[in-house]
Amino acid sequence: MPGLGAPWPASAIPTTSGDLTVGGVGLAEAADRFGTPLYVLDEGEFRSRCRSYRSAFPAAEVLYAAKAFLSSAVAGWVAEEGLGLDVCSEGELRLAAAAGFPAERILLHGNAKSPEELRLARRLRVGRIVIDNHAEIARLAALTVADVPQRVLVRVVPGIAAGHHEAVRTGVTGQKFGFALDGNGAGPDDHDGAGAAPAGRGQQQPQPQPRGGDAAEAVRRVLDQPGLVLTGLHCHLGSQITSPAPYLTAVDRLVGLLATLRDRHGVQLPELDLGGGHGVPYLPGGAGLDPHRFAAALGRRLAEQCARHRLDVPRLLLEPGRAVAAPAGVAVYRVLTVKTAADGRVFAAVDGGMSDNPRPALYGSRYCARLVGRTPTVPGLREVDVVGRHCEAGDVLVRAARLPADLRPGDLLAVPAAGAYQLSMASGYNLVGRPAVAAVRDGRARLLIRRETVEDFRAREVHP
Ligand code: LLP
Repeated sequence: MPGLGAPWPASAIPTTSGDLTVGGVGLAEAADRFGTPLYVLDEGEFRSRCRSYRSAFPAAEVLYAAKAFLSSAVAGWVAEEGLGLDVCSEGELRLAAAAGFPAERILLHGNAKSPEELRLARRLRVGRIVIDNHAEIARLAALTVADVPQRVLVRVVPGIAAGHHEAVRTGVTGQKFGFALDGNGAGPDDHDGAGAAPAGRGQQQPQPQPRGGDAAEAVRRVLDQPGLVLTGLHCHLGSQITSPAPYLTAVDRLVGLLATLRDRHGVQLPELDLGGGHGVPYLPGGAGLDPHRFAAALGRRLAEQCARHRLDVPRLLLEPGRAVAAPAGVAVYRVLTVKTAADGRVFAAVDGGMSDNPRPALYGSRYCARLVGRTPTVPGLREVDVVGRHCEAGDVLVRAARLPADLRPGDLLAVPAAGAYQLSMASGYNLVGRPAVAAVRDGRARLLIRRETVEDFRAREVHP
């Protein structure tokens, strides 16, 4: 049978018995073996997405954003596929290091890096650190000496609003990340890179800044530190962005700043990190940012802007998280009850919910679901809200899913595009325990992470 197409992994193939195989493994069999809720990670899909980034951007350095989902196995896949790793906490850094990820290919981010995190990063010799605020410049300088320098980038806020939800729009002024670009002709925040528009949160009075704003001042201070080697500028606009346009605007603004810095300090910074945020489809027919089309548009714009400012073209760095991990994941739940409410709405309650996937409750994210493990006994689909098991009415995983009319307790439901920001944001709500994670490849399944149990919670109690 042919595959299902996006948002399912390329390897997802329906069987004649109504099951779905992913990576050659039947989801019903995996659910029986490992229990539910189960997160199935298609190793082939994850790796092929790494490869497609490398082939789309052969001259760039592509770093997988660990925040989307990280485990030791995943760190190994990323390392083997030749990508770098973007980490943003001591936990991500320690896990990557323990998994043997090469430290020089690690880049550390964060708006609130603790002194311990910075010390650890130095001790492990991470390749790059992205500087987010003035305090960090002094802190990091104190940890470095000129004969063992630290490569750093300065995080710039380019004043661009892009991404699927306000909570993830980090390219705008008036939020916690980075150094503002005010005074470099950026003007008010630009919505989705489609030309300057009224800016909402970005409307506060610009501070009296030199041209290049706070970002140029941060660069000046970094250049003053003999132990810090400034390799370039960084920005991250937002997440689940499906058009190249905001990135092109970011290129215009950041290359403008590179030119300002060249004129002012006589330095040509060799790297430009445009962060991550590349969108993927969550629903059939949904939009995503194709790496090859994106690369072509970005390459053209970068060349144009650099020619205009008479700059050498800097090396690009990219930090995709979701675009690598999300399509590789499928969540499998067991239906516990099916209920028809007084107004006729049908609810299918499953054994997971907002503790393993908080995205619908947090951002209103939309998903789809499919019955797996059996064929329907009646024709036709009906609208069903797939809800979780937690004690909140807002615990809805898939609103208005189209599911067989005979859906019943005991059935299995599979939800695609589950590989990013679900497990990594999973919580211990209601002590349900975080789900198991199994990797599938070439017809074989292996458990990467076992299910969390109440014993895990009890083990942390000091005074039971
Ligand atoms: N680089 C930086 C500096 C970031 O802050 C992020 C994500 C990325 C790269 C990777 O972005 P990606 O390519 O995965 O979109 N929890 C939200 C997403 C938050 C993203 C935070 N930063 C969600 O579930 O939609």
